[in-house]
Amino acid sequence: MTRQFFVGGNFKLNPTSREAKRELVNILNKATLNPQTEVVIAPPALYLIPVLELLRKDIKVAAQNSHTKNSGAFTGEISPVQLVDAGIPYVILGHSERRTLFGETSVIVAQKTRAALDAGLRVILCVGETLAEREAGSTQKVVEEQLRAVVTLLSPGDWSRIVIAYEPVWAIGTGKVATAAQAQEVHADTRKYLTSAVSPEVAESTRIIYGGSVTAANSKELATQPDVDGFLVGGASLKPEFVDIINATA
Ligand code: G3P
Repeated sequence: MTRQFFVGGNFKLNPTSREAKRELVNILNKATLNPQTEVVIAPPALYLIPVLELLRKDIKVAAQNSHTKNSGAFTGEISPVQLVDAGIPYVILGHSERRTLFGETSVIVAQKTRAALDAGLRVILCVGETLAEREAGSTQKVVEEQLRAVVTLLSPGDWSRIVIAYEPVWAIGTGKVATAAQAQEVHADTRKYLTSAVSPEVAESTRIIYGGSVTAANSKELATQPDVDGFLVGGASLKPEFVDIINATA
């Protein structure tokens, strides 16, 4: 089966003005994009609704986080049900910045994933190892542990609404991109893990995208790898070259 190529732009905590946000949207609105690629951008929470209103309708919008609960006394949180109500179809969960800077364990990420799916969201689920873990030879063990917590809370039918983003922590924002071979190896091993932990059908159909210092220059080679089904782009999603990354397979 063919998996639709997926390119996400994770704006993180950028930009810092409504005008700059409008400019980013305008670049995308004017661009010629490969219609075969699913494109999703994740602006900061405050800009989700204005971006949704300004953005062309063939690009989707994602939140960068959501809570395990839908309502109640949880100051500062955004609930999955509120996102769905606002017309937001996707959420990024388990990003390494959430894991390391905000103390989100794999269990919390799994609970958030469950809650997001229950509300009707699709989830871009991030996993990845640190440099020390890679150097210790435990890349796959770490990725599988992060996924296992989610696997236990999901039924096979849930996986059609999950995109796995493999983001090695050492490649995020460092300019040190994984080689095409390194990315392919982890993606193939992850697919193998899904085969045994969930099912061969889910392994075959789930998109596994790569994130970590993706640029227009390196995206084409990464995209040639059979198990690289797209990208989650940070820094370069704030630049005009994001359009070239979206069109990497064209
Ligand atoms: O979620 C995307 C990300 O963490 C990668 O960031 O800036 O290395 O492309 P960057």
